[in-house]
Amino acid sequence: MQRSAVFTALFSLAILSLLAACKAGTPGSLQGGVMKEIKQNVTIGGRDVKNPIPKSAAAIKQGAEHFQRRCQVCHGLDGHNTGVPFANKMDPPVADLGSTDVQGYTDGQLKWIIENGIGPSGMPGWKGILDDDEMWKMVWYIRNLPAAGSLGAPAIFKEQAEEHEGMQMMRKGGAATGEKKPHTHTPGTPPHKD
Ligand code: HEC
Repeated sequence: MQRSAVFTALFSLAILSLLAACKAGTPGSLQGGVMKEIKQNVTIGGRDVKNPIPKSAAAIKQGAEHFQRRCQVCHGLDGHNTGVPFANKMDPPVADLGSTDVQGYTDGQLKWIIENGIGPSGMPGWKGILDDDEMWKMVWYIRNLPAAGSLGAPAIFKEQAEEHEGMQMMRKGGAATGEKKPHTHTPGTPPHKD
């Protein structure tokens, strides 16, 4: 009796997700959507755990300091990946912590993510490295992120970008001293005759 009720429930769930899949369209988005659901509802713990640290300007500021020390290499100073050159090249890409998806987690889930990391993605867990207090303050920072771009790029990437610009200027300089215009064809394809 009970078993068949469970079965019916599971069966209707399956139908529902199939229907949702039709709405979503491509198989890719089906998988992405279901995976996201599973991740947000099953894998990530801590849903009902409340932030024991009361909200205050000091807590947000301290959270920002910890964040900017530990997390900026991937998430940028502002939590929006500003100036992080590989953010979109990681698989999955580094999450924008201001996005509605991330803000949709409860405080307890955010703390859980920081503590345990996200499975096989590039998001590391910080258990044993950060204490609870630091993690909860970071949660306050994540809830109160500054506007994207407002803090500029992390220093290490700024230097890289400047070096890169320097190289480009040297290349341009080379072009000015007699080198023909930089070729745009890809290696291996014969240069076209005009
Ligand atoms: C080595 C790069 C890296 C570092 C360092 C890093 N993260 Fe992440 N983070 C990621 C990636 C990649 C994702 C996306 C994971 C995913 O979507 O499954 C992510 C996702 C997240 C998410 C959202 C998870 C989700 O399901 O969307 C939060 C919150 C987060 N990081 C917080 C932090 C905090 C706080 C720190 C510092 C204590 C930190 N991260 C350090 C790479 C990093």
